Amino acid sequence: MQSHSMAKTYVILSSLFFFLEMAMAKTIPTTLDGPFKPVTRRFDRSLRQGSDDLPMDHPRLTKRVPTNFPEQIALAISSPSSMWVSWVTGDARIGSNITALDPSKIESEVWYGEESGKYPFVERGVSMVYSQLYPFEGLLNYTSAIIHHVKLQGLEARKKYYYRCGDSSLKAMSDERIFETMPPSGPTMYPHRIAVVGDLGLTGNTTTTIDHLARNDPSMILMVGDMSYANQYLTMGGKGASCYSCSFPNAPIRETYQPRWDGWGRFMEPLVSRVPMMVIEGNHEIEPQVDGITFQSYLTRFAVPLECGSSSNFYYSFDAGGVHFIMLGAYVDYNQTGAQYSWLRRDLLKVDRTVTPWLVAAWHPPWYNSYSSHYQEFECMRQEMEALLYHYGVDIVFSGHVHAYERMNRVYNYTLNPCGPVYITVGDGGNIERIDIDHADDPGKCPSKSDNMPEFGGVCHLNFSSGPAKGKFCWDEQPEWSAFRESSFGMGY
Ligand SMILES: [Fe+2]
Repeated sequence: MQSHSMAKTYVILSSLFFFLEMAMAKTIPTTLDGPFKPVTRRFDRSLRQGSDDLPMDHPRLTKRVPTNFPEQIALAISSPSSMWVSWVTGDARIGSNITALDPSKIESEVWYGEESGKYPFVERGVSMVYSQLYPFEGLLNYTSAIIHHVKLQGLEARKKYYYRCGDSSLKAMSDERIFETMPPSGPTMYPHRIAVVGDLGLTGNTTTTIDHLARNDPSMILMVGDMSYANQYLTMGGKGASCYSCSFPNAPIRETYQPRWDGWGRFMEPLVSRVPMMVIEGNHEIEPQVDGITFQSYLTRFAVPLECGSSSNFYYSFDAGGVHFIMLGAYVDYNQTGAQYSWLRRDLLKVDRTVTPWLVAAWHPPWYNSYSSHYQEFECMRQEMEALLYHYGVDIVFSGHVHAYERMNRVYNYTLNPCGPVYITVGDGGNIERIDIDHADDPGKCPSKSDNMPEFGGVCHLNFSSGPAKGKFCWDEQPEWSAFRESSFGMGY
């Protein structure tokens, strides 16, 4: 009788656990489930759609070290055994008649080791400056402080390192910082948490996003483009605009206020001097200046992995544990005849899925997007590259650019496909341009084909060739390839 009762209790308990497991499995669906029925969480239009930029004299943006001392310290992964350390020394100059600083006047050293206060190793690197020149009546020029990049090599995986950077001969070293390297490449080890954020800016909302992100203690940050929004300003500074062309219709060129980049570097330092941030360029990094020169701030301020065989800072790849990340450039040649596509094909060929089972790609403007904003803007890039990524089984694609969240069902060539990637748009870090709230399927919100012109590359807007929207530019309802969309600021993990 007793054993019967125990058996019964066992059956009841195991059934309970079974149903509990089923219930939990139902609560947290994985990307292997689906396709999901499209869901939209609409924006409450009584709320403000954004917040103002932090002013330059905000405590998180002001310089706090003497002139030769390092500031704006940042990390980037180069390979599982190497890490970039970047920082800035000296003072940027702004005016109509300015000369650039000489970067050879100060050393780039990182002293580091495995114990706090002991630095048995030293690496030296490079230093450089850039200028942002606007030869127009009344506009000011900018020349940067000295930007340093040092690559620490021969690091052990999943290990803490303590470091100080600067110039030891000038006794101008930073205080001690700490970082942890990624786990080794392999199918069983992963970074414990990866933060994904885009279109960050430097507003009150940005502050909320970054403080939240820091509290969640990520192992690395994927930054999918549009960072400082220095190009929402005139060269004189002043107040940034949420709509540049509306506020500054007579500007002779898309001006920038480059000190915003320095403010952004200081704002990010407490986080990115201990957590590596992997960046890719967005349209707000284009920053045109004299002679057609572009992207000077992006190219000079950020170090990216070189081990992947890319010869350009505009696209690269790297491993973090069992994940191979591919970062693509949407604002450089993405055509099948170009250097980026050739590199991408070579990189994908080299991926060993037994070592890195996960293949994650990221670029700035999304290919799949059902918001009115930027609708089909980078359709040409999709047409050039989608088949290659599909062929190699990319699992997830992260993008920004659209200032809202959207997660797609697995899709290929605008058709639901269980082997296609899950596309996720996270262009809602908190920037000054405000949140996007209109959907292309809302009544009267389908953009015209002349809207949403890309800032680089061709225009390939198309009508759908099959499905419920066959023959039309926009769907009448949330498209089946869009699983969930919500207009709110934040980030992902
Ligand atoms: Fe963008």
